[in-house]
Parts: sequence; C-alpha cells; structure tokens
Amino acid sequence: MALKIVRIYPKNPLLAWVEDRLPVISFVAAHTSRYQAPWNFNIWYLFGGLAAVTLVNQLVTGIFLAMHFKPSAAEAFSSVEYIMRDVEWGWLIRYMHSTGASLFFVVVYLHMFRALLYGSYKRPRELVWILGMLIYVVLMAEAFMGYVLPWGQMSFWGAKVIISLFGAIPVVGESLQQWVMGDYVPADATLNRFFSLHVVALPIILLLLVTVHILALHEVGSNNPDGIDIHDRIGPDGTPLDGIPFHPYYTVEDLLSTVVFILVAAFLIFFVPTVGGLFLEHDNFTEANPLVTPEHIKPVWYFTPYYAMLRVIPHKLSGVIVMGLAIFVLFLMPWLDRGKVRSIRYRGGAYKLALGLFAVAFVVLGFIGIGAMAQLLPRLLGDGIDVNAIENWIGRVLVAIYFGFFAFTWVYTRFGFERTRPLPERLT
Ligand code: HEM
Repeated sequence: MALKIVRIYPKNPLLAWVEDRLPVISFVAAHTSRYQAPWNFNIWYLFGGLAAVTLVNQLVTGIFLAMHFKPSAAEAFSSVEYIMRDVEWGWLIRYMHSTGASLFFVVVYLHMFRALLYGSYKRPRELVWILGMLIYVVLMAEAFMGYVLPWGQMSFWGAKVIISLFGAIPVVGESLQQWVMGDYVPADATLNRFFSLHVVALPIILLLLVTVHILALHEVGSNNPDGIDIHDRIGPDGTPLDGIPFHPYYTVEDLLSTVVFILVAAFLIFFVPTVGGLFLEHDNFTEANPLVTPEHIKPVWYFTPYYAMLRVIPHKLSGVIVMGLAIFVLFLMPWLDRGKVRSIRYRGGAYKLALGLFAVAFVVLGFIGIGAMAQLLPRLLGDGIDVNAIENWIGRVLVAIYFGFFAFTWVYTRFGFERTRPLPERLT
C-alpha cells in the first residue's frame, strides 16, 4: 500500500480546530507532499494532470455558456449565435468549450495510450484502469450530448443516426429509440433531456469517477516507464529509494505542462477554432432542418474510429455489436495481458509490433470515419475506382487488426511465447 495518512497538527488555532474535526490538511498532504512518486516520469505522465485541467476548463466555461443558452429546439441555435455575437467574450467562452472538448479527447487518448505502453492497467492497478474506462465511456456520452445542444444540422442528424442505432436492437429497439428521444425524431424533448444530462448528471458522475480514479491510483501507487514497483526498495527513512514527493517536484512540472498546453490551446482558439471543420463541423453553423439531410453525416473526430467500424460492417446490428465490443474489450485488458513485465521497454518484440499495429489501425479507422480516406483514394488510385468497396475492405482489415491485438496479446502472454528483457533492479 502506497498511501498512509499521517496526522498533521497545524500551529494556527483555527486550522488546528478544523483539523481535529476533519483532517483536511493531513488528507491533502498524504496525496501531495507525502505521496511518493517514481522519479523517472516522462512526458507521457503529463496527460493525467492535463486531463484534469481540461475537465476544469469544460466545467467553468460550461457554467457561463449555460447562463445564456436556451435549451429549446426553437431557441437553441439562435441563443448560441447570440453568445457568439452579443454576449461579452461569449465567442471566447464558446470556443474554449468547443475546442476544449476536442483537446480533452486528445489528452485522454494519449493518457490511455501511456497506460498501454507501460502496462499501467496490470495488477495492482486494474481498478484504476476500469475507472478510467468508465470515465472514457461517460466522457463520450457527455461529448455526444453536448454536440446536440447548439441544434445545428450536424447536431440534429448526428443525433438521429446515433440514436437510431438503438433501433437495431431486436424486439425492444424501436421503443427504446423513442424512449431515448422522447419523440419520433430528435426534437424539443430530446434537446431538453440532453441539456439536463449534459450540464448536471454526467458532470457530477465524471467528477466522482475522476476523484475515485485518483484515490484508487494513490492507494496502490503510480506505475512508471520502467514498470517496476518502487515500493519494493524502501530507504532507512521508510520512503521508497526511487520515490520523490509528488509536491513540489511534479506539481511544478504539471504547472509547466499546463502553461505550454494553454499556449497551444490559445493558438487554436484564437486562430483556427474549428480546425477546418474537424473540431466543429461546417454543417453545424446552419440551423437544424429535419427536411434537409446534410451530404455527409459524420460524428466529430474522436468518435470516428468506432463510427468507421459501424460503416464498414455491412449489417447494422453486427456493426453496433462490433462497435460496443471494441470498447468493452478494452475493459478486459488487465486480464487478457498475462505478460510478466509491464513496460514496453522490456516486452517481447512481437508485442511491441502488435501494439504499434493496433495504434495505427485505430488512427486509420478514424481517418475512414471522418471521410478522409474517401477523398484520398481517388487521388492515389485514379477516378475509375469503387471508393466505397475499397474503403470497406481496408476498414474490415483494420477492424480485424484492432480485435486481433487483444486475441494476440492473450495467446502470446498466456501460453508463454513472450521473451521479455531482464528488468532493472532500480529505476533507469
Ligand atoms: C477526465 C479524465 C481523466 C483524468 C482527469 C485522469 C487523471 C489521472 C491522473 C491525474 C493520473 C495520475 C497522473 C498520470 O499518471 O498521468 C492518472 C493515472 C492513470 N489513469 Fe487517468 N484520468 C482520466 C482518464 C483516464 C482514462 C480514460 C483511462 C483509461 C481508460 C485512465 C487510466 C489511468 C491509469 C491506468 C493511470 C495510472 C498510470 C500509471 O500509474 O502509470 N485515465 N489519471
């Protein structure tokens, strides 16, 4: 166990009085200045803190947006235009929120990939990973509902396509779909409930999950790029030989990464807030119209790997199942990977290759999902080709690689095929 709460007795009488009744300072100290973290964290370890920064940004800007936003199908679109044009600094708050949502996913994807690189999901951090996966699922629901709120064309049609996936479920599908929407198409009732879930229910759940995620991590201690346990070697003072206090060492480092992150975010927000239609699609600057279908209905980039799976699998229900399994199988990673070492640095060559292929498959599926592949193929292969057919086959191979990674990992590690490199005694 990495965490020990030691009672602190403040000199200030008021603080001492509070501390006696509720040991807040002792609790904070246990999680910061007394929390021993490995000294070898690298750049991959910055993204947890940055995820917290982006979460705070979404909460604060969201509160101000909600002051001016009107959650009704008749007024939502114009209230967003009003925020952009008439509310003082409204454009900045709106872009901080919409660009912030995409940056949140950039950070979370890198944070998740770090866990895969260094085996941070492995014993004893399985629960940290499971809680992380729950955060990821709730975050996707949060982002999806947020995108519906401005009631643009893509809000409406995106909602229609995604909610219609429920319709693929046998027997109850149709009723479930109407129950979710509160109508036969996305309408006022849908917008209202999404608003309530987006601004109240899901943020509370997210905050709770993030708190428990960090508490669970501190209970077992942080992993590191070597994947060895610093608590195996304890110094004479009772702290790990390879540990340093989280505060001030990593609080200062996280502060620095936050400043750099804010500079990058500011550049995007001020100069390219929609990132050419990637972060906010052009169609969403036109009010929702149930009578006019946009030419290409597609979700925002962070959903597109899963959306591509749905598109390249011919049967709708099978597509929905594959998409669901693609997320579910990630939850199982701690039990599929039986490898003896955690970090990629000491793992077998075949595992390194498999993880690389998995990452490439996920990214390329994302490209298919945003429609980039459909634009690229005619340029590469000439105009006479059947873009759809080729794209579907490439997509199916990538889906096979995606799931193949999990199957491979299990077989490779379960039956002792992996040849690992010797672990160092101490952090390197
Ligand atoms: C709002 C989203 C999230 C926040 C604010 C958050 C926050 C954090 C923080 C502050 C840490 C410690 C610092 C670090 O290791 O980078 C951490 C560690 C970790 N997180 Fe998250 N996290 C989030 C989402 C996720 C997701 C989606 C996953 C995976 C599915 C995940 C898996 C992990 C794991 C496995 C660790 C332990 C890493 C290690 O010790 O090597 N987190 N998280």
